[in-house]
Amino acid sequence: MLVLDFSNFPVLSTKRLLLRQVTKADANEVFGLRSDSNVMKYIDRPMAKTIDDAINYIQKIENGITNNDYIAWALTLKENNTLIGIISFHRIEKENYRAEIGYILATNFHRKGLMQEAVTAVLDYGFNIMKLHSVEAVINPANDISAKLLEKNGFVREAYFKENYYFNGKFLDSAIYSLLAPAAIKEKAE
Ligand SMILES: CC(C)(COP(=O)(O)OP(=O)(O)OC[C@H]1O[C@@H](n2cnc3c(N)ncnc32)[C@H](O)[C@@H]1OP(=O)(O)O)[C@@H](O)C(=O)NCCC(=O)NCCS
Repeated sequence: MLVLDFSNFPVLSTKRLLLRQVTKADANEVFGLRSDSNVMKYIDRPMAKTIDDAINYIQKIENGITNNDYIAWALTLKENNTLIGIISFHRIEKENYRAEIGYILATNFHRKGLMQEAVTAVLDYGFNIMKLHSVEAVINPANDISAKLLEKNGFVREAYFKENYYFNGKFLDSAIYSLLAPAAIKEKAE
């Protein structure tokens, strides 16, 4: 069984980004993200309607980190502490050494290679420090941008579930992507 300890929060650094803990001081920016219909288009979760929705969401992140069963990082540009996005391993399956990755970025910062940097750092942390064996991503099949980002990082579409997810009065399809740890891929080849 995977043993995780996030008590000393793992701040990560990339060329342009510092990935730090999300705190309640980020409530305005989290609200901005989770109430933006462009950002939330394919997230298929209720949009934030009030700051309290954002605060509750941050509280859930904090609880998950305290219990060592969820981790999320705030994306900030190195020169500025403002949260511009979130990347997470939610739904960690400790018994399977597997986690689901999720990410959102404020619209103004799209298409600059920033999430690519964050994904690289978080996968490196997930495989090398957390010792995950595989990482999964579950996406709305219409989310071409997310699919491209995943494929660029070596994820493979392994499944397509028809109408397995009920949201907002509709049954939605899901595409399941996964990536094995680099060591696991190497072992298989040998
Ligand atoms: C998905 C998302 C995080 C990408 O962030 P980003 O920082 O703009 O992505 P990057 O600039 O790092 O791009 C990395 C790769 O993603 C893909 N990509 C990103 N934006 C794209 C676009 N507009 N069109 C096509 N491909 C795109 C490309 O493969 C790109 O690599 P390339 O530049 O070499 O072509 C961002 O679009 C977002 O927040 N979307 C809304 C939230 C969301 O849908 N999250 C995923 C839920 S599963």
